[in-house]
Amino acid sequence: MPVTATALAHPNIALVKYWGKRDVALNLPAVPSLSLTLDGYRTRTEVTWGVEQDEVVFGGQPVVDRKIARVLDLLDPDRPGVRVVTDNDFPTGAGLASSASGFAALVVAAAAASGRDLSLEALSVLARRGSGSACRSLYGGFVAWRMGERADGTDSHGVPVADEGHWDVRMVVALASEARKAVGSTEGMARSRDTSPLWPSWLAGGERDVAEARQAVLDRDLERLGTVMERSTFAMHGTMTSATPPLLYWQPASVALLHEVFALRARGIGAWATMDAGPQVKVLCLRADADAVAEALAPHALRVVVHGPGPGARLVT
Ligand code: DP6
Repeated sequence: MPVTATALAHPNIALVKYWGKRDVALNLPAVPSLSLTLDGYRTRTEVTWGVEQDEVVFGGQPVVDRKIARVLDLLDPDRPGVRVVTDNDFPTGAGLASSASGFAALVVAAAAASGRDLSLEALSVLARRGSGSACRSLYGGFVAWRMGERADGTDSHGVPVADEGHWDVRMVVALASEARKAVGSTEGMARSRDTSPLWPSWLAGGERDVAEARQAVLDRDLERLGTVMERSTFAMHGTMTSATPPLLYWQPASVALLHEVFALRARGIGAWATMDAGPQVKVLCLRADADAVAEALAPHALRVVVHGPGPGARLVT
């Protein structure tokens, strides 16, 4: 008898970035990272275990996804056919961490549908194999991803730093473009590693930045957290833009948004920017300042959405 389970997961935005792999096959990171899981945007995934043949439906359309099949194989090498029906309520592949919420929801639903009772750590390890940043979306609030030391990667997973109730910050997401990115993260990381002269210094800064961000979260020190987040962002984009050929994820609207964030700070509003492998600008601030930040960003953006800290991936019952 086929068994169905459904899970929800939210994207996470890295405050200290994961960019680079020390093991490509196992998706092991070259640097540690630290993120905030968002509320609002979500992936919903229904998995039916035990059907005739594999089938993946994404946003109502049938698709072929090698990575999904691979993660299901890792869960059970002798598995039956599996149907996966998934959708996002936000743009996919545009630097909004859709792969993170996608694989987090997938592993939670697939483990339940297959009758496996896996620990959060084991689910996080499995999600990591689909997409590195997904290992952080198993948890809510502020989450670190430890690099781990074992060759098999079983100790490289998300680690909760502070849950979604710890600190009522806001991440104001300004959409600069809805186009899918030209170069995905996996390829972008490889190009940065292989060609950027800044790569060694990027690797050297990871541990320090995560330690500092972690302490800033625990102390609820927004200026310190915002400062390290911007440093990590611009250092990562430094490795991208100095790659050959250059990886420039920024659009004109992204630059206008960054300048607006600096102008907000000059006016005394605590707002700090981050960007990932896409043109969107995400701004960290206190809840009390979120409306002012959103208003200032709006003229430069297609859309502005305010998020708070959100929960980890979970089953829908
Ligand atoms: C820039 O997790 O999408 O968003 O592991 O190759 O699937 P793969 O990459 P992915 O990379 C995310 C990179 C980033 C920074 C971050 O989220 O830490």
